[in-house]
Amino acid sequence: MYYALITGASKGIGKSIAIELAKRKIPVLLLARSGVLLEQLAAEIRDQYGVKADYLVMDLSEPDTDEKILKWCQANQYTVNILVNNAGYGLTGPFYEYSKKDNASLLQVNIISLVQLCQAFLPMLKTCEKAYILNIASSSAYQSVPMLNLYSSSKSFVLHFTRSLSHELKGSSVSVTAVSPGPTDTDFPNRANMNEKTKKTASKFHASPQSVAAIAVNAMFAGKREVITGFINKFQAFMVWLLPKTFVERIAAGIYK
Ligand SMILES: NC(=O)c1ccc[n+]([C@@H]2O[C@H](COP(=O)([O-])OP(=O)(O)OC[C@H]3O[C@@H](n4cnc5c(N)ncnc54)[C@H](OP(=O)(O)O)[C@@H]3O)[C@@H](O)[C@H]2O)c1
Repeated sequence: MYYALITGASKGIGKSIAIELAKRKIPVLLLARSGVLLEQLAAEIRDQYGVKADYLVMDLSEPDTDEKILKWCQANQYTVNILVNNAGYGLTGPFYEYSKKDNASLLQVNIISLVQLCQAFLPMLKTCEKAYILNIASSSAYQSVPMLNLYSSSKSFVLHFTRSLSHELKGSSVSVTAVSPGPTDTDFPNRANMNEKTKKTASKFHASPQSVAAIAVNAMFAGKREVITGFINKFQAFMVWLLPKTFVERIAAGIYK
């Protein structure tokens, strides 16, 4: 039996991806820090969709979590053929006003743990007849976003890493997909310390986490390398490419200030 391992599955887009996969009768392994939420979701998935669901409480800002997660899978004989790297968050405001530890934790969760999970699980993924890696980037990956600096920079990394990895795995059984959502109705703005003005602006463009999850899972199974969710976000990425970068960055800075 094959499992999908989903990081950041306690809420938001990750929770919706877990449900979307469970609806398709795929057993799921849920990871995040909120044990109670994970326990509730695992029970809901088992009851409503009749598929196996287990969870592991893990803080991905800690070092070497990839080894602990892999060991947990091996000890329980969970063979993973779908790895969803979804856990991530932003911090609004000038990056230098956050502590060194705050910034390092963001980079650890958004970048290092994602890379290390890909590396740790690739040998297992390669043993499967067909396997998938789904990395959640962001529409902010396509530009520099002052006042959301480390976040947008980390998501640019995720996008470029995923593009390159898809080439490195060409001809193998593992397909790699980067999905870039735009503003989505989740806990993201609270965790990012966004002010009310910014939250209100973002909420005008909100997609539901369920719709983002459905697009992400469809893109993954279709073997797409890169998808931006929704017309507005695709149009935005095009305009960002087209317009002078300093102009685009000034507008972004105004939104997140
Ligand atoms: N919402 C948006 O507008 C938006 C737009 C573009 C991209 N995204 C991306 O979508 C992904 C999901 O975000 P979301 O919008 O669904 O936000 P969310 O509702 O805040 O969910 C974030 C998830 O990541 C987990 N997480 C955060 N820090 C963690 C840590 N240190 N260790 C383990 N798990 C951790 C959270 O679980 P715990 O708190 O239980 O640990 C939660 O399950 C992120 O990568 C985000 O960057 C979001």
